[in-house]
Amino acid sequence: MITDPNIAFVLAKRGVKGGYVPCGDKSISHRALMLAAINRGTTVIRNLNLCDDVMSTIECLRKLTVEVEFDEQSNKCIVCSSGYTAIENLPVILNAGNSGTTMRLLTGLLSAFRGNYVITGDSSLCSRPMKRIIDPLTNMGAKIHYREGGLAPLSINGSKSLAGIRHRMHVASAQVKSAILLAAIHAYNDTIIEEPYMTRDHTEKMLKAFGVDIATIKKKGLSVIELKEVKELCGDRLLTIPGDFSNSFAFIALTTLIPNSSLVIKNVGLNESRITAMTVLKEMGANIEYIEYGTYVDTEPVGEILIKSANKLQGREIEHMYIPQLIDEIPLLALVATQAEGETRFINCGELIHKESNRLEEIKNVLTLMGADVRIKTVNNEVDLIINGRTSLHGCQLYSEDHRIVIMSIIASLIAHGSTKVDRDKCVNISDPDFFKSLRFLLGGNE
Ligand code: S3P
Repeated sequence: MITDPNIAFVLAKRGVKGGYVPCGDKSISHRALMLAAINRGTTVIRNLNLCDDVMSTIECLRKLTVEVEFDEQSNKCIVCSSGYTAIENLPVILNAGNSGTTMRLLTGLLSAFRGNYVITGDSSLCSRPMKRIIDPLTNMGAKIHYREGGLAPLSINGSKSLAGIRHRMHVASAQVKSAILLAAIHAYNDTIIEEPYMTRDHTEKMLKAFGVDIATIKKKGLSVIELKEVKELCGDRLLTIPGDFSNSFAFIALTTLIPNSSLVIKNVGLNESRITAMTVLKEMGANIEYIEYGTYVDTEPVGEILIKSANKLQGREIEHMYIPQLIDEIPLLALVATQAEGETRFINCGELIHKESNRLEEIKNVLTLMGADVRIKTVNNEVDLIINGRTSLHGCQLYSEDHRIVIMSIIASLIAHGSTKVDRDKCVNISDPDFFKSLRFLLGGNE
């Protein structure tokens, strides 16, 4: 995509205006499909996010002989399964593409089924750390082989006799927690997970929606998740997926940064463990209100967000404990920080190195090329990302294969002077198949 040098000028005068309805939440879509695959009967899922990552999950499930069909007119996905036996005794090779959620959660799920499964992915996914799931799953009795360095492809020799475990999370990761919980469905006793830092809780909520006895209690600063031995999931189920907050955040950032703007986002997921980036942005001076008006998937809050341009933004420190809850929004928050007065510091955010790309380096490279003041500071293995604002940004040629970096670059190009060329922009489909359509609409018909 090449942005016209006049767009920033026109936008600055006219502002972003309108309404936006995000596609379904990507994280919740993966979980709905995986549980539907082992739920005896028919699960109908409305508003599934049909991005490339979720399509990878669907293709893996189809290879496991699960029936996944679409009724495009009503935007419904229909999953028919014979229950726990649906994916047993199969020797298959599965391809998770670029999707860490597909690989890590499916590895957990399949560990408990008799069968030989190989799961691989693209070059980015095959260089991301997998020991973080392999170790706890092995402690439960799973048999997983991996490439040197704890890397995929992974080979899972499913076992029928997993044991529940008590596990304290070393890495604050919803994917790791979820891999353990999905394996624990078939374990022969209870599983307890202790989480020092809150991560997204969509797996817990989805398990509840399928009738599983799971509870989270707060104890001495920890979240303690207890999953009781599961006999069977609930059977026929209709689920509606809330809109994706992370995809919405691109337009929240854009509206905040462009004068004379106002935007209403409808039907968006407002799960407490996902909206911290919005709280941070408000504390930096952004003009944002939201109301919850219901719940989907039984306990996932849904509502509306109203954003207007910010008058003045102020940099701030973002403590380490909040990093897991805004991990996917850090590239866009970093962009906003270039337009805030003073220093913004993301404390101990080294986990960004292990995403679809080394996001820490990519954020620094892109924003520096555009004229921002960005530093990475490492002290005693703790890595901070530091941005000093405000700086005016200028267009340039950018290259990334990471969807969240490309989305940040495109939003940055809309507040920059001059034209910007972003290569590999198709990769936005990894998380948001509607990104360009929504952007065109909000920009009044221009791309
Ligand atoms: C996800 C969890 C996060 C997030 C990823 C999706 C999920 O990863 O970055 O985009 O669906 O569970 P980690 O759990 O590895 O932090």
